[in-house]
Amino acid sequence: MPTIDWDAVDHACWWVPPGALSLATVPAFEAQPLAVRRRVSHLEYLHLVETGLVLEAFFVERLAWLAGRTANPQARSAYLREIREESGHSLMFVELLRRSEGEVARPRAGVRFVRALARRLAPDSALFWAMTMIGEELPARLTCTVEAGPEEVTMSRVVVSMARVHGADEAGHAAFARERCAEAAARLPAWRRTAQSAVLAAWLAAFERYLFYPQPDLYARAGLAPGAHWRACALANPARRALAARLIAPSVAFLRGIGWALGGPRQK
Ligand SMILES: [Fe+2]
Ligand SMILES: [Fe+2]
Repeated sequence: MPTIDWDAVDHACWWVPPGALSLATVPAFEAQPLAVRRRVSHLEYLHLVETGLVLEAFFVERLAWLAGRTANPQARSAYLREIREESGHSLMFVELLRRSEGEVARPRAGVRFVRALARRLAPDSALFWAMTMIGEELPARLTCTVEAGPEEVTMSRVVVSMARVHGADEAGHAAFARERCAEAAARLPAWRRTAQSAVLAAWLAAFERYLFYPQPDLYARAGLAPGAHWRACALANPARRALAARLIAPSVAFLRGIGWALGGPRQK
């Protein structure tokens, strides 16, 4: 595993490539000073990191529950390996937040509500694994845009290294979640899968909005005021909507293929 040179955390570079920002291609944003646009890229990466921390804490909790109850040694190893990897990611995220003077945000009320709901799901149920798969795959694909920044853009070495470490592990997590999701969905009576599809679709829409369209205070902290105006620009940004649809499409196609009644990628 590559080591990360934490002393190289650098704000005079991009943390998310400019073309993958929520406001990319919005003329009023592209006309902003370089320092402001870069600050947005730092904060959008930290938003991804904070989202990762919330999700990973939840996954670790559920995986520990599953590891403690399975009688299958291979399954236990798989759960424990994933716990170790997610814990490593979270330590890495906390270190970046510490070095970048970012604070670990207390999850918003909406996130806390969704997490409380998710805790009520049976940890090995089809709906649990479908939600887990989405929670693993969408942030991982967004992180891949960091790794794939164009050569002419000066990306942070630290952030690119983090994306590599994370990407290598997440491919395995997504494959595991897909496998468990397909097995659990096959056990579920069709009528229940249809009934639960509405819940899954609502969760996917809420998570898409949370992940791809940061809250107004992010823009305000970057020097773009009022933040609500800039968030509205992001929500209306065709380039952002196209990126979100492209990154969500493979997950939706998989879930539809195993019987979930989800629409195609949404067009807002
Ligand atoms: Fe992770
Ligand atoms: Fe993961």
